[in-house]
Amino acid sequence: LKNIISIKDFKKQDLDFVLSIAEDIEQNPNKYKNILDGKVISSIFYEPSTRTKLSFDSAIKKLGGKVIGFSDTTTTSVKKGETFSDTIKMVAGYSDLIVTRTKIEGAPRLASEITDIPIINAGDGRNQHPTQTLLDLYTIKKVKGSLENLTIGFLGDLKYGRTVHSLLQAITLYNPKKIKFIAHRFFQIDNSYLALLKEKNIEFEVFEDIDNNLKDLDVLYVTRTQMERVAEDIDIEPLKERYTITKEILDKSNNKNLMVMHPLPRVYEITEDVDATPYAYYFKQAKNGIPIRQALMCICMGVIKHE
Ligand code: CP
Repeated sequence: LKNIISIKDFKKQDLDFVLSIAEDIEQNPNKYKNILDGKVISSIFYEPSTRTKLSFDSAIKKLGGKVIGFSDTTTTSVKKGETFSDTIKMVAGYSDLIVTRTKIEGAPRLASEITDIPIINAGDGRNQHPTQTLLDLYTIKKVKGSLENLTIGFLGDLKYGRTVHSLLQAITLYNPKKIKFIAHRFFQIDNSYLALLKEKNIEFEVFEDIDNNLKDLDVLYVTRTQMERVAEDIDIEPLKERYTITKEILDKSNNKNLMVMHPLPRVYEITEDVDATPYAYYFKQAKNGIPIRQALMCICMGVIKHE
C-alpha cells in the first residue's frame, strides 16, 4: 500500500488492516504523536474541499509531521500554465508524500506513475474517493460492529457521486445482504456498477422514490447532487423535496437501527431536524477522517509496516 489511488486496488485484508491501524491510533494517540517527525507532506488541491483538506492537515500535525501545499491554484504557477505532471514532479522533490484532489479522473494514478514518493488520491472527478470510503467503512464498523451482511441504501446523486462509487466497490468485499439504489433516473447508478454486483451475485434493487424503502436498511448513505459535474442543463428544483430526508420520514420508516450517513457537504438532502436524532452519523463520520488519514499516511510512508 504505497499509493492510495482507487478502492479497486485494495483487497479485503488491506481494508481491514487500515481500519485496525486507525482504531489503534484513535485509542492510543500518545503512541503515535511523533511518528511523522521530520516528514513533510504536500497537500495540493485542484478542487474545493473542507473536510478532506482540513482532516489531512490535522492528521499530519497530530502525528508530528509538517504540511505544505495549496488549495487555490490561482496563487500558483498553475495560473501560468504549468501542467499537472510538472507540478507533481517538482512538488515530489519538496516532500515525502503528496495528497492531491483533481478535477481530472485518473490524474492521481498518473502522479503515482511519474514519482517515487507515495501519492494519496483525495478525490478525482466523479471517479474515486478512497480515503472517504475508508472513513465510511470505519464509521459503519464502529456502529454496526461488522461490515458483513448489511443492507445499504444509496440515495441522491449516484451517477456523479464518487463517494458512492468507491464505497459500493468496497462493500462488495463484505458480502452485503442487499444494496438499494434510490435516485431520479437522471442521477441513477451507472450500469457498470450494477454489472459488478451481478457478477458478484449480490442482490440489489433500483428505485426512483424513497417510498417504503428505508425500513429494511442498516445504513442509508445520502449524497449531494454534484452540480459541478453535471454537463446537461437540468433543473433540480422540482427534485429537491422528493429526495430530501427529514426527521418525519425517518420516524415513519419505523427503523430505529437505521444509521444515516452523508460524506458532506450537505446542501438540502438532509434537513437539520435530523441532526439531533439517533439516526444522524454524518458529523461523527467526518471526524473519523482523522484516524483513517493518519493510518493511511503512516502505512504509505512505511512508518507503519503493512502485514
Ligand atoms: N467529503 C468530502 O470530500 O468533503 P470535502 O469536499 O469538503 O473534502
